[in-house]
Amino acid sequence: MSAWIVEDLGEIELWTIDLEPRRNAISRAMLRELAELGARAAGRRSLRAVVITGAGDKAFCAGADLKERAAMSAEEVHAFHRELREGLRGLEESPKVIVAALNGAALGGGLELALACDLRLCAPHAELGLPEVSLGIIPGGGACARLPRLIGLARAKELVLTARRVGAAEALALGLVSRVARPGRLREEALALAAEVARNAPVSLRQAKRALDGGLHLPLEQALDLENRMYQDCLGTRDRVEALQAFAEKRRPHFTGE
Ligand code: COA
Repeated sequence: MSAWIVEDLGEIELWTIDLEPRRNAISRAMLRELAELGARAAGRRSLRAVVITGAGDKAFCAGADLKERAAMSAEEVHAFHRELREGLRGLEESPKVIVAALNGAALGGGLELALACDLRLCAPHAELGLPEVSLGIIPGGGACARLPRLIGLARAKELVLTARRVGAAEALALGLVSRVARPGRLREEALALAAEVARNAPVSLRQAKRALDGGLHLPLEQALDLENRMYQDCLGTRDRVEALQAFAEKRRPHFTGE
């Protein structure tokens, strides 16, 4: 049985974690499938953006599958963390834009999954948090590294060290999500956001993502160099010529990713 439902919507794919009885918790099988989905998506030329969400309305993802974890040896836990790290890095480095649509609780590894995505929006009833220090561990799926980069060290420390959960309004104020959907409208609004991304030039999307992610913690001159290299790669594309032609002809460009 697959842990994911994949809906092919043309330029956009919707990936739903289909493990509702365990609140979409991250199992090893689920991670393996995520890696396969990521590899397939990278090779799908016509695909521009992916929306990741969870089944039901209770949880986006309740973190690591604690029932599976209870039966794991120490080596298996190490392997899980390696696979989690690789899986989330794969999303971050994907040439496609990845949108997380938080349909409910995003806790521990569930929030870490969302942090590895490019954009995050949530339902009004969503709860986000990193409960790990209340469980005798620390976030192990990248939150200690990614959260301060996203919302700043002081706010990241507050969330990690208190282990408290925040609701949608606070998540928005903190910058954990960039939008809160209207009640019952998360799917539509997530797909609309993905569509807003998907109408842009594919090479530009990939290069902009690299310039933004790669440049964030470089010294300014190096970040500007990186941006310039990413920019140069767009110059030889047909899509750039198409955009100029479309502008002259007062029509929308038709991008092909070449
Ligand atoms: N791993 C495995 N199973 C999980 C799980 C997890 N991380 N989180 C929830 N479940 C299971 C529960 O054990 C329960 O199973 P049961 O029906 O066999 O008893 C089922 O999901 C429903 O859980 P419940 O707590 O009743 O659902 P809820 O909708 O009221 O609350 C959450 C959902 C996500 C808010 C709540 O389950 C929760 O806080 N989970 C733990 C989150 C966590 O601490 N994650 C670990 C971070 S390191």
